[in-house]
Amino acid sequence: MWRWLFLITLCIATRLWAAEVPGQIAVASAHPLATQAGIEILRAGGNAFDAAVAVSATIAVVEPAGSGMGGGGFWLLRHAGNTGAVVIDGRERAPLAATEDMYLDELGEAMPRASLDGPLSAAIPGQPAALVHIAERYGRLPLGQSLAPAIRAAREGFAVGPRYRRLAGMRVQALRASPAAAEIFLVDGDVPPLGHIVRQPDLAATLGAIAKQGRAGFYAGVVAQRMVEGVRAAGGIWTQGDLNEYTVVEREPIVGEYRGLRVTTVPPPSSGGVALLTMLNILAGYDLQSVGLTERRHLIVEAMRRAYRDRALYLGDPDFVGVPVQRLIHPFYADGLRAGIRTDRATPSSMLPGIEAPAGGSDTTHLSILDAEGNAVSATLSINYPFGSAFVPPGTGVLLNDEMDDFSIKPGVPNAYGLVGKQANAIAPGKRPLSSMTPTIVDSDKGVAIVGTPGGSRIITMVLHAVLGYAEGKDAARMVALPRYHHQFLPDAIQFEPNALNKDEQLGLGELGHDLKPINRAYGDMHVVVWDKRAHHVEAASDPRGEGEAMVSDVVPQKSVQGKVVNELVELVGRKVVTSGRLSAVSRFER
Ligand code: DON
Repeated sequence: MWRWLFLITLCIATRLWAAEVPGQIAVASAHPLATQAGIEILRAGGNAFDAAVAVSATIAVVEPAGSGMGGGGFWLLRHAGNTGAVVIDGRERAPLAATEDMYLDELGEAMPRASLDGPLSAAIPGQPAALVHIAERYGRLPLGQSLAPAIRAAREGFAVGPRYRRLAGMRVQALRASPAAAEIFLVDGDVPPLGHIVRQPDLAATLGAIAKQGRAGFYAGVVAQRMVEGVRAAGGIWTQGDLNEYTVVEREPIVGEYRGLRVTTVPPPSSGGVALLTMLNILAGYDLQSVGLTERRHLIVEAMRRAYRDRALYLGDPDFVGVPVQRLIHPFYADGLRAGIRTDRATPSSMLPGIEAPAGGSDTTHLSILDAEGNAVSATLSINYPFGSAFVPPGTGVLLNDEMDDFSIKPGVPNAYGLVGKQANAIAPGKRPLSSMTPTIVDSDKGVAIVGTPGGSRIITMVLHAVLGYAEGKDAARMVALPRYHHQFLPDAIQFEPNALNKDEQLGLGELGHDLKPINRAYGDMHVVVWDKRAHHVEAASDPRGEGEAMVSDVVPQKSVQGKVVNELVELVGRKVVTSGRLSAVSRFER
């Protein structure tokens, strides 16, 4: 028997070597239960796309502040061997009854909180449609199997941690206003104590309906009826027509180059990819490793400033407005922007034409997945503000998003993340609000990095820091731990985490004319998987700032190697799942 085991392992290892596949599986997400759901599905013979369905649905249950079935997101899927990538745009859409001035009062002034709290702030969810689409078109397992871990987590519950308490504390007023939300997420109207178990039987039933009926389980039938009735009874404007009309869009990723790296990322209606590639194109003209630290930070900030100016000016839903994507991500265009950067002086944002003058956290969520064959998923999902709109339509368990706030509700009026915009991102019926979510896959001559994070407007600059780190040889653990600083054109100031800039750098940047705004808390929750093809090594890391978990594992768990390994391996090979045959235990990084 041992001889057989040896031969099978050898055969698999040879195949692995020849085919250039990772052989191991890796999942990094914002919660251990979601990461474990992904590993479970991969071990059951699912591919990275099935695992993305499982992790997205489970994180919707166990991290309700960040994303959910009542929200949306962008899933960047790439087939093994770089044979094709696609972006699944499951971004929410404005209801058909939405109007450009729906959050303005009679005097034309923005009504504070109208686009943030309650059902009027909720756009039509895209996540359920996206998960069904991914499972049906790209997965190997039945949808019900991939949703099973989420349904289990909703029934059995999850324990409240410090992050939940902090974010629920921010949203406690809004949650109290929705009896169904308060019942699920609060205890006697207050933030639950640490360790309290949050069970979501209604959400389990809604997920069960999706598992059985696919898209119709959410967008039609009793769940849809309850959502529409609940929203309208509390002052919202949804109709069944909105749910019927919701469609997922498959979009071509956008691709750029940076010093030998190939960066694949998301197109509009996220601004993230365009802004990331613009910044990288500008920075490709400098040798950042050979300049002093203050100059390096200055150049990076000036690139950020210019990319965010363009975001505010040009970007919106491409199905509604013309977005000059190819021009904005062209290296020639970046040459022009770079020519305006002075090395000895900050450019005041007011000197850049186009936008006249007016801060993110760690809600929203990101997941990075690699399967044993090399299929990769980078997905960032959101319900926008912590706990979204804080509204749950009774009897559904679905916490609705407040993604309407990502529109420019009035030119020049900043949204919850301080972002401003113009006509390109004005509200229109059926339009998708402009996002900053930036799920990204980076290829180098060494291997692949799967990268992303939540963090509102700061998402794009966090991904930039990670890509620059990868370009300079940082591993996954160091990429997620990099100190963060940020500039978003307006407000015209460098925001930075505690300890991200030392005193000398702060002084130096001040002398160059930069305004500095220290942030008193670390931000973001990045999850990275790196496959080093040369070293035949897979690693994964979750942000030390968060509560997530990163796992790298063999498809077959180590304990079964002593037992029925031959059967399992044969079974797996039969299903064309290649394992590395390596016996390393599940590894946990940086928690
Ligand atoms: O799509 C967007 O850009 C926002 N809704 C993301 C919000 C977010 O990341 C919140 N986390 N701090």
